[in-house]
Amino acid sequence: MMRIVLLGAPGSGKGTQAQRLQAKYGVPQVSSGDLLRDAVARGTELGLKAKAAMDAGHLVSDEIVLGLIRERLSRSDAAQGFILDGYPRNAQQATALNALLDEIRQPLDAVLLLDVRRQTLIDRLAGRRVCSKCGKVFNIANLPAGGSCDVDPSHGLLIQRPDDKEEVIAKRLEVYEAQTRPLIEHYSRLGLLTTVAGEGPFEDVFARMETAALGGTPTALKKNAKRTQPTALKKKAKTKFKTKSKAKSKPAKTKKTTKRKSANKTDRKSSISAKRKKPARKK
Ligand code: AP5
Repeated sequence: MMRIVLLGAPGSGKGTQAQRLQAKYGVPQVSSGDLLRDAVARGTELGLKAKAAMDAGHLVSDEIVLGLIRERLSRSDAAQGFILDGYPRNAQQATALNALLDEIRQPLDAVLLLDVRRQTLIDRLAGRRVCSKCGKVFNIANLPAGGSCDVDPSHGLLIQRPDDKEEVIAKRLEVYEAQTRPLIEHYSRLGLLTTVAGEGPFEDVFARMETAALGGTPTALKKNAKRTQPTALKKKAKTKFKTKSKAKSKPAKTKKTTKRKSANKTDRKSSISAKRKKPARKK
Protein backbone atom coordinates (compact mmCIF):
# COMPACT_ATOMS: atom_id res chain seq x y z
CA MET A 1 0.00 0.00 0.00
CA MET A 2 1.35 3.39 -0.97
CA ARG A 3 -0.74 6.53 -0.57
CA ILE A 4 1.37 9.48 -1.43
CA VAL A 5 1.26 13.00 -2.79
CA LEU A 6 4.03 14.23 -5.07
CA LEU A 7 4.66 17.90 -4.58
CA GLY A 8 6.99 20.01 -6.68
CA ALA A 9 7.22 22.82 -9.17
CA PRO A 10 6.32 22.34 -12.83
CA GLY A 11 9.13 20.33 -14.39
CA SER A 12 10.43 18.94 -11.11
CA GLY A 13 9.84 15.40 -12.37
CA LYS A 14 6.61 14.45 -10.60
CA GLY A 15 5.13 12.76 -13.68
CA THR A 16 8.37 11.01 -14.58
CA GLN A 17 8.84 9.59 -11.11
CA ALA A 18 5.16 8.75 -10.64
CA GLN A 19 5.23 6.69 -13.84
CA ARG A 20 8.25 4.79 -12.56
CA LEU A 21 6.72 4.15 -9.14
CA GLN A 22 3.54 2.97 -10.85
CA ALA A 23 5.45 0.62 -13.12
CA LYS A 24 7.40 -0.92 -10.24
CA TYR A 25 4.77 -1.05 -7.50
CA GLY A 26 1.52 -1.22 -9.49
CA VAL A 27 0.10 1.75 -7.60
CA PRO A 28 -1.78 4.04 -9.99
CA GLN A 29 -0.49 7.49 -10.83
CA VAL A 30 -3.36 9.93 -10.38
CA SER A 31 -2.31 13.05 -12.24
CA SER A 32 -4.69 16.00 -12.17
CA GLY A 33 -2.90 17.40 -15.23
CA ASP A 34 -3.40 14.16 -17.19
CA LEU A 35 -7.05 13.95 -16.16
CA LEU A 36 -7.59 17.52 -17.32
CA ARG A 37 -5.70 16.99 -20.59
CA ASP A 38 -7.81 13.90 -21.23
CA ALA A 39 -11.00 15.94 -20.70
CA VAL A 40 -9.66 18.61 -23.06
CA ALA A 41 -8.76 16.01 -25.71
CA ARG A 42 -12.23 14.45 -25.50
CA GLY A 43 -13.80 17.87 -25.84
CA THR A 44 -16.06 17.43 -22.82
CA GLU A 45 -17.82 20.42 -21.31
CA LEU A 46 -15.44 20.26 -18.39
CA GLY A 47 -12.47 20.05 -20.74
CA LEU A 48 -13.60 23.14 -22.61
CA LYS A 49 -13.86 25.03 -19.32
CA ALA A 50 -10.40 23.88 -18.22
CA LYS A 51 -8.55 24.52 -21.48
CA ALA A 52 -8.30 28.29 -21.31
CA ALA A 53 -6.90 28.25 -17.78
CA MET A 54 -4.39 25.52 -18.65
CA ASP A 55 -3.17 27.21 -21.82
CA ALA A 56 -2.57 30.40 -19.84
CA GLY A 57 -0.72 28.62 -17.02
CA HIS A 58 -3.41 29.31 -14.43
CA LEU A 59 -5.00 26.79 -12.12
CA VAL A 60 -8.28 25.23 -13.16
CA SER A 61 -11.12 25.74 -10.65
CA ASP A 62 -10.88 23.72 -7.46
CA GLU A 63 -14.36 22.33 -7.98
CA ILE A 64 -13.60 20.86 -11.41
CA VAL A 65 -10.35 19.27 -10.29
CA LEU A 66 -11.83 17.83 -7.10
CA GLY A 67 -14.60 16.20 -9.16
CA LEU A 68 -12.00 14.51 -11.37
CA ILE A 69 -9.89 13.36 -8.43
CA ARG A 70 -12.90 12.06 -6.54
CA GLU A 71 -14.03 10.03 -9.53
CA ARG A 72 -10.52 8.67 -10.18
CA LEU A 73 -9.94 7.62 -6.58
CA SER A 74 -13.26 5.79 -6.54
CA ARG A 75 -12.02 3.35 -9.19
CA SER A 76 -11.05 -0.10 -8.01
CA ASP A 77 -7.36 0.16 -8.88
CA ALA A 78 -6.98 3.02 -6.38
CA ALA A 79 -8.39 1.03 -3.48
CA GLN A 80 -4.94 -0.25 -2.59
CA GLY A 81 -3.15 3.07 -2.92
CA PHE A 82 -2.39 5.96 -5.24
CA ILE A 83 0.30 8.39 -6.26
CA LEU A 84 -1.25 11.84 -6.45
CA ASP A 85 0.69 13.89 -8.98
CA GLY A 86 -0.15 17.59 -9.15
CA TYR A 87 -2.96 17.49 -6.60
CA PRO A 88 -3.39 19.29 -4.25
CA ARG A 89 -2.04 22.59 -5.53
CA ASN A 90 -3.37 25.16 -3.10
CA ALA A 91 -4.66 25.37 0.46
CA GLN A 92 -8.31 24.82 -0.51
CA GLN A 93 -7.41 21.68 -2.44
CA ALA A 94 -5.38 20.35 0.49
CA THR A 95 -8.39 20.80 2.76
CA ALA A 96 -10.71 19.18 0.22
CA LEU A 97 -8.32 16.25 -0.23
CA ASN A 98 -8.10 15.71 3.49
CA ALA A 99 -11.90 15.55 3.72
CA LEU A 100 -12.13 13.20 0.73
CA LEU A 101 -9.49 10.83 2.08
CA ASP A 102 -11.22 10.84 5.47
CA GLU A 103 -14.46 9.93 3.76
CA ILE A 104 -12.96 7.02 1.82
CA ARG A 105 -10.74 6.00 4.76
CA GLN A 106 -7.52 6.27 2.80
CA PRO A 107 -5.20 8.43 4.92
CA LEU A 108 -2.05 9.76 3.33
CA ASP A 109 1.21 8.01 4.13
CA ALA A 110 3.56 10.69 2.91
CA VAL A 111 4.05 13.80 0.84
CA LEU A 112 7.24 13.84 -1.22
CA LEU A 113 8.62 17.15 -2.39
CA LEU A 114 10.89 17.06 -5.44
CA ASP A 115 13.40 19.84 -4.97
CA VAL A 116 14.84 21.26 -8.20
CA ARG A 117 16.48 24.61 -9.05
CA ARG A 118 14.49 27.14 -11.08
CA GLN A 119 16.84 27.20 -14.07
CA THR A 120 16.75 23.41 -14.27
CA LEU A 121 12.94 23.54 -14.22
CA ILE A 122 12.89 26.00 -17.11
CA ASP A 123 15.35 23.94 -19.17
CA ARG A 124 13.46 20.73 -18.54
CA LEU A 125 10.06 22.20 -19.42
CA ALA A 126 11.32 23.81 -22.61
CA GLY A 127 12.82 20.48 -23.68
CA ARG A 128 9.94 18.23 -22.67
CA ARG A 129 8.17 16.16 -25.30
CA VAL A 130 5.31 13.75 -24.69
CA CYS A 131 3.98 10.85 -26.68
CA SER A 132 0.80 11.95 -28.44
CA LYS A 133 -0.68 8.51 -27.92
CA CYS A 134 0.26 7.30 -24.43
CA GLY A 135 1.53 10.46 -22.75
CA LYS A 136 4.92 9.06 -21.81
CA VAL A 137 7.28 11.91 -20.94
CA PHE A 138 10.61 12.47 -22.73
CA ASN A 139 13.11 15.27 -23.09
CA ILE A 140 15.00 16.45 -26.15
CA ALA A 141 18.18 16.12 -24.12
CA ASN A 142 17.54 12.43 -23.75
CA LEU A 143 15.35 11.02 -26.54
CA PRO A 144 15.11 7.28 -27.20
CA ALA A 145 16.86 5.93 -30.29
CA GLY A 146 14.90 6.94 -33.37
CA GLY A 147 13.42 9.93 -31.59
CA SER A 148 9.98 8.38 -31.11
CA CYS A 149 8.07 6.85 -28.23
CA ASP A 150 9.62 3.58 -27.08
CA VAL A 151 6.49 2.09 -25.53
CA ASP A 152 5.10 0.60 -28.73
CA PRO A 153 6.11 0.80 -32.41
CA SER A 154 2.62 2.10 -33.24
CA HIS A 155 3.27 5.15 -31.09
CA GLY A 156 5.35 7.75 -32.73
CA LEU A 157 4.83 11.40 -32.62
CA LEU A 158 6.41 13.24 -29.72
CA ILE A 159 4.77 16.61 -29.17
CA GLN A 160 5.33 19.70 -27.06
CA ARG A 161 2.63 20.55 -24.54
CA PRO A 162 0.93 23.90 -25.32
CA ASP A 163 1.74 25.10 -21.79
CA ASP A 164 5.47 24.41 -22.25
CA LYS A 165 5.94 27.63 -24.23
CA GLU A 166 8.32 30.06 -22.60
CA GLU A 167 5.76 32.68 -21.53
CA VAL A 168 3.39 30.08 -20.08
CA ILE A 169 6.24 28.38 -18.21
CA ALA A 170 6.97 31.66 -16.42
CA LYS A 171 3.32 31.99 -15.41
CA ARG A 172 3.14 28.42 -14.14
CA LEU A 173 6.23 28.92 -11.99
CA GLU A 174 4.71 32.12 -10.60
CA VAL A 175 1.47 30.31 -9.76
CA TYR A 176 3.46 27.54 -8.09
CA GLU A 177 5.31 30.01 -5.88
CA ALA A 178 2.16 31.86 -4.87
CA GLN A 179 -0.30 29.00 -4.44
CA THR A 180 1.45 25.67 -4.16
CA ARG A 181 4.65 26.40 -2.26
CA PRO A 182 2.71 27.16 0.97
CA LEU A 183 1.70 23.48 1.00
CA ILE A 184 5.28 22.59 1.86
CA GLU A 185 4.87 24.24 5.24
CA HIS A 186 1.39 22.76 5.62
CA TYR A 187 2.51 19.16 5.11
CA SER A 188 5.69 19.72 7.03
CA ARG A 189 3.64 20.74 10.06
CA LEU A 190 1.58 17.59 9.69
CA GLY A 191 4.81 15.60 9.79
CA LEU A 192 4.14 14.12 6.37
CA LEU A 193 6.71 15.91 4.24
CA THR A 194 9.93 14.44 2.93
CA THR A 195 12.14 16.48 0.63
CA VAL A 196 13.87 14.57 -2.14
CA ALA A 197 16.73 16.02 -4.17
CA GLY A 198 15.24 16.03 -7.68
CA GLU A 199 18.34 16.67 -9.80
CA GLY A 200 20.75 14.12 -11.17
CA PRO A 201 20.26 10.99 -13.25
CA PHE A 202 16.69 9.64 -13.46
CA GLU A 203 17.67 6.40 -11.72
CA ASP A 204 19.28 8.23 -8.80
CA VAL A 205 16.25 10.43 -8.29
CA PHE A 206 14.06 7.36 -8.53
CA ALA A 207 16.10 5.53 -5.91
CA ARG A 208 15.67 8.45 -3.53
CA MET A 209 11.95 8.72 -4.30
CA GLU A 210 11.44 5.04 -3.79
CA THR A 211 13.18 5.05 -0.45
CA ALA A 212 11.21 8.08 0.68
CA ALA A 213 7.92 6.60 -0.57
CA LEU A 214 8.59 3.48 1.46
CA GLY A 215 9.35 5.56 4.52
CA GLY A 216 13.10 5.08 4.76
CA THR A 217 16.12 7.28 4.53
CA PRO A 218 18.04 7.19 1.25
CA THR A 219 21.33 5.41 1.86
CA ALA A 220 23.38 8.15 0.27
CA LEU A 221 21.85 10.70 2.59
CA LYS A 222 21.89 8.71 5.80
CA LYS A 223 25.11 10.13 7.09
CA ASN A 224 23.74 13.67 6.81
CA ALA A 225 20.25 12.96 8.02
CA LYS A 226 19.20 13.76 11.56
CA ARG A 227 18.82 10.76 13.78
CA THR A 228 15.22 10.02 14.47
CA GLN A 229 13.78 8.13 17.36
CA PRO A 230 12.25 4.70 16.97
CA THR A 231 8.46 4.85 16.53
CA ALA A 232 7.76 3.59 20.03
CA LEU A 233 9.85 6.34 21.56
CA LYS A 234 8.38 8.95 19.25
CA LYS A 235 4.91 8.24 20.57
CA LYS A 236 6.04 8.98 24.12
CA ALA A 237 8.15 11.99 23.31
CA LYS A 238 6.62 15.28 24.42
CA THR A 239 9.00 17.48 22.47
CA LYS A 240 7.52 18.96 19.34
CA PHE A 241 9.43 18.65 16.11
CA LYS A 242 9.76 21.69 13.96
CA THR A 243 10.70 21.37 10.34
CA LYS A 244 11.85 24.25 8.25
CA SER A 245 10.70 24.66 4.69
CA LYS A 246 12.12 27.60 2.91
CA ALA A 247 12.81 28.57 -0.66
CA LYS A 248 16.21 27.34 -1.70
CA SER A 249 18.47 28.24 -4.52
CA LYS A 250 20.06 24.80 -4.40
CA PRO A 251 18.39 21.40 -4.34
CA ALA A 252 18.28 19.66 -0.98
CA LYS A 253 21.39 17.67 -0.19
CA THR A 254 19.85 16.13 2.87
CA LYS A 255 16.48 14.79 3.64
CA LYS A 256 14.77 15.56 6.90
CA THR A 257 12.82 12.74 8.38
CA THR A 258 10.03 14.38 10.27
CA LYS A 259 7.77 12.95 12.88
CA ARG A 260 4.86 11.55 10.95
CA LYS A 261 1.56 12.35 12.53
CA SER A 262 -1.95 12.00 11.28
CA ALA A 263 -3.44 14.12 8.55
CA ASN A 264 -6.60 12.09 8.78
CA LYS A 265 -6.87 10.61 12.18
CA THR A 266 -8.85 7.50 11.26
CA ASP A 267 -6.59 4.48 10.83
CA ARG A 268 -3.29 6.30 10.63
CA LYS A 269 -1.40 4.15 13.11
CA SER A 270 -2.07 0.90 11.38
CA SER A 271 -1.45 2.30 7.93
CA ILE A 272 1.97 3.66 8.67
CA SER A 273 3.65 1.95 11.53
CA ALA A 274 2.86 -1.48 10.16
CA LYS A 275 4.41 -0.72 6.81
CA ARG A 276 7.18 1.75 7.39
CA LYS A 277 9.95 -0.59 8.14
CA LYS A 278 12.94 -1.22 5.98
CA PRO A 279 12.76 0.05 2.35
CA ALA A 280 12.64 -2.69 -0.25
CA ARG A 281 15.99 -3.48 -1.79
CA LYS A 282 16.47 -1.84 -5.13
CA LYS A 283 16.37 -4.40 -7.89
P1 AP5 B 1 0.41 19.35 -14.71
O1 AP5 B 1 0.33 18.48 -15.88
O2 AP5 B 1 0.21 18.80 -13.37
O3 AP5 B 1 1.78 20.14 -14.81
P2 AP5 B 1 2.83 20.60 -13.67
O4 AP5 B 1 2.50 20.39 -12.28
O5 AP5 B 1 3.08 21.97 -14.09
O6 AP5 B 1 3.92 19.62 -13.80
P3 AP5 B 1 4.58 19.16 -15.08
O7 AP5 B 1 3.77 18.05 -15.69
O8 AP5 B 1 4.85 20.32 -15.98
O9 AP5 B 1 5.99 18.67 -14.57
P4 AP5 B 1 6.43 17.38 -13.78
O10 AP5 B 1 6.84 17.77 -12.43
O11 AP5 B 1 5.40 16.28 -13.90
O12 AP5 B 1 7.71 17.03 -14.60
P5 AP5 B 1 7.97 15.86 -15.67
O13 AP5 B 1 8.11 14.56 -15.00
O14 AP5 B 1 7.01 15.96 -16.81
O15 AP5 B 1 -0.63 20.55 -14.86
C1 AP5 B 1 -0.83 21.23 -16.08
C2 AP5 B 1 -1.91 22.27 -15.90
O16 AP5 B 1 -3.14 21.64 -15.53
C3 AP5 B 1 -1.66 23.29 -14.78
O17 AP5 B 1 -0.86 24.37 -15.20
C4 AP5 B 1 -3.09 23.71 -14.45
O18 AP5 B 1 -3.60 24.61 -15.39
C5 AP5 B 1 -3.84 22.41 -14.56
N1 AP5 B 1 -3.87 21.67 -13.28
C6 AP5 B 1 -3.24 20.51 -13.01
N2 AP5 B 1 -3.48 20.14 -11.75
C7 AP5 B 1 -4.26 21.09 -11.23
C8 AP5 B 1 -4.83 21.26 -9.93
N3 AP5 B 1 -4.62 20.39 -8.95
N4 AP5 B 1 -5.59 22.37 -9.72
C9 AP5 B 1 -5.81 23.25 -10.70
N5 AP5 B 1 -5.29 23.15 -11.94
C10 AP5 B 1 -4.53 22.07 -12.20
O19 AP5 B 1 9.43 16.29 -16.16
C11 AP5 B 1 9.62 17.48 -16.90
C12 AP5 B 1 10.76 17.26 -17.92
O20 AP5 B 1 11.96 17.04 -17.19
C13 AP5 B 1 10.57 16.03 -18.81
O21 AP5 B 1 11.02 16.32 -20.10
C14 AP5 B 1 11.45 14.95 -18.16
O22 AP5 B 1 11.94 14.03 -19.11
C15 AP5 B 1 12.57 15.81 -17.57
N6 AP5 B 1 13.15 15.22 -16.37
C16 AP5 B 1 12.50 14.72 -15.29
N7 AP5 B 1 13.37 14.24 -14.37
C17 AP5 B 1 14.62 14.49 -14.89
C18 AP5 B 1 15.94 14.23 -14.41
N8 AP5 B 1 16.17 13.64 -13.23
N9 AP5 B 1 16.98 14.61 -15.20
C19 AP5 B 1 16.77 15.21 -16.40
N10 AP5 B 1 15.53 15.46 -16.90
C20 AP5 B 1 14.48 15.11 -16.15
